[in-house]
Amino acid sequence: MPSVFIKTYGCQMNERDSEAVAAQLVAKGYAIAKSEANADVVLLNTCSVRDLAEQKAINKMRNLIGTARKDKPGQIVGFMGCMAQSRGQELIDKLPDVDLVLGTQKFHRAAEYIDELLAGTRKQIVDVAAEAKSEATIREHLLNGSAKTSVSAFVSIMQGCNQYCTFCIVPYTRGEERSRTIEDIVAECRELVGRGVREITLLGQIVTSYGKKEKRDAWQAALGAENSPLITHHSSLVSPFVQLLDAVHAIDGLERIRFTSPHPKGYGDDLVEAYARLPKLCESAHIPLQSGSDRLLKLMHRGYTREKFLGIVKKLRAAKPGIGITTDIIVGFPGETEEDFEQTLSLCREVQFDNAYIFKYSPRRDTPAAEMPDQVPQEIREERNHRLLDLVNEIAARKYDTFIGQQVQILVEGPSKKNAARYTGRTRCNRIVLFDGSARHQGQLMDVKIERTGSFTLYGDPAVVNL
Ligand code: 5AD
Repeated sequence: MPSVFIKTYGCQMNERDSEAVAAQLVAKGYAIAKSEANADVVLLNTCSVRDLAEQKAINKMRNLIGTARKDKPGQIVGFMGCMAQSRGQELIDKLPDVDLVLGTQKFHRAAEYIDELLAGTRKQIVDVAAEAKSEATIREHLLNGSAKTSVSAFVSIMQGCNQYCTFCIVPYTRGEERSRTIEDIVAECRELVGRGVREITLLGQIVTSYGKKEKRDAWQAALGAENSPLITHHSSLVSPFVQLLDAVHAIDGLERIRFTSPHPKGYGDDLVEAYARLPKLCESAHIPLQSGSDRLLKLMHRGYTREKFLGIVKKLRAAKPGIGITTDIIVGFPGETEEDFEQTLSLCREVQFDNAYIFKYSPRRDTPAAEMPDQVPQEIREERNHRLLDLVNEIAARKYDTFIGQQVQILVEGPSKKNAARYTGRTRCNRIVLFDGSARHQGQLMDVKIERTGSFTLYGDPAVVNL
């Protein structure tokens, strides 16, 4: 039985795609290898969001080819995902020993192509074509992998993004927005819950735009049709995304719902109200800010202002006090002045994010920002990165400390990776809690009292609560 090893770079969507490819291969009789060294097939699921991520995967592939050709002659190596999509044949021109380049709309063809490569009926395969309905193909799960995946699962609800932020390569790697149907998604969630999953994270590049394109298309079709009875019944203030949340919420046995990544423009009152209305929707939100300067937000084509962003945070905190709010920020976007950067610092002070992921701007091919004037020198990007990181970490640490002495509900995922005597779970606001637990705790919702904090971890004591 041939074995496969998949190494994943980048975001949770990539993790999910890798899981679906692995599940597909397992269903065809492949084994999952523990490491690349003894695998018959090694796939790198790539990320293109910054140059560094691309370089890492390319270096890894160079390395693999060096060792594979020496120690394991028949080994098949391939790129899949975002970089495979945006570079295609170019990757083979650069690294002629690569056997497979599989784009983001072709994950479901992985097993078939690998069979052909292993059998020697084809020597090299590049497939990065668009494929209708590919958004509905990320469906299979491998719940017997790690302990965590049997408690908490990711479900892909849509593919692509039409926002075209000027810095971002995603519309070119993931294509136009395409959403699965609510029925299809709910069926997958139900099946997962039937297999013991208690928490589901709905995934997409811009989940708050879920179903918008399809809704527009349906409207247009209805308007075009004569005597259409649909029109009068179609006006709804609830966005398709919130309709999906409602439908998933209704699944018996599911305890928690999360989603990522949203866009700030998607936080209408319907979504804010959903937080107050749906008890399974966890009070945590990862809302990418990118910059605190209105001038930059405009250049980035983000479609909101600083004030609008602050308004969203205020409404969410009013609906759910204690909601965990995290964000993404880019420093050194072209034209960013010291003044613009200080606007970002001041917004972070004002919002007090629970955590923020900071990215140094990285020019991406074919994106408008890469051609913009006033590219910020590397040293200034570095310096701003450090200053913002200091501020964000200081705020995050202070917020962590406020948990000491509090009782929180956690969903227990399984043993901690570092220390198997410790078990790990997450609060509803998405913080990791470690405690002395055992296998019987896995998959349980339990209350613990927070005793102390570590770096980005809370330490809890279940006994204190149970007394
Ligand atoms: N340079 C740096 N960071 C980027 N991101 C997206 N594109 C770029 C880029 N060209 C960041 C954004 C996004 C996160 C996933 O990656 O902050 O939210």
